[in-house]
Amino acid sequence: MNRTIVVTGTDTDVGKTVFAAALVGALDGHYWKPVQAGLDDGSDSANVAAFSGLTAAHILPEAYRLTTPCSPHRAAEIDGVTIDPDRLIPPQVEGPLVIEGAGGMLVPVTRELLYADLFARWRLPVVLVARTALGTINHSLLSIEALRSRGIAILGVAFVGDAVPDSEATIIAMGGVKRLGRLPYLDPLDRGTLADAFAANFSLADFAP
Ligand SMILES: Nc1ncnc2c1ncn2[C@@H]1O[C@H](COP(=O)(O)OP(=O)(O)O)[C@@H](O)[C@H]1O
Ligand SMILES: [Mg+2]
Repeated sequence: MNRTIVVTGTDTDVGKTVFAAALVGALDGHYWKPVQAGLDDGSDSANVAAFSGLTAAHILPEAYRLTTPCSPHRAAEIDGVTIDPDRLIPPQVEGPLVIEGAGGMLVPVTRELLYADLFARWRLPVVLVARTALGTINHSLLSIEALRSRGIAILGVAFVGDAVPDSEATIIAMGGVKRLGRLPYLDPLDRGTLADAFAANFSLADFAP
């Protein structure tokens, strides 16, 4: 299966990295984080390596690694780095590629460019990762509007958290999107529990080209 999928989310800390690790592990694909902002607490790439069990060769190097855990546009300024959008081109790989943005999709990459604009340039489909917790209907429907207004294809929503059936169903119906599944909170969260939870709750066919 040769497919490139962007994993975006309604916010920071919603579970994009954990979901991306599960997906890329199940696909035996490559993972790419274009811009990593914040290096002290372990990078998203390092977490994906740990949670997916993929070899280092499947974790592609970030185009930019910035020190400060904040929006990339600001993290770059703090490090005295200029982010060149032309360097943010999805790498060519054999087989599936999973790309993770940063924060929510209206986070600036530079002062002129939002992540959502980058996704639109790439013409790649996205998975929207959303919490099930209170507040998710608003965040999810806002995110769906922002993606649609840019013509970005939405594969569907991957929920993270405890089951909240009405919130999930409301987002799916009012957003007109597909429910891909829900990753419950895992304790412990490790490569094995994550792979099992993904297999039990998602269908790989939904991610096929
Ligand atoms: N399904 C889950 N079960 C347990 N912990 C999770 C799960 N999803 C995310 N987390 C934890 O929540 C935090 C944020 O998740 P992360 O995937 O890094 O979010 P994001 O990439 O959206 O910022 C991390 O500490 C992560 O380990
Ligand atoms: Mg992340």
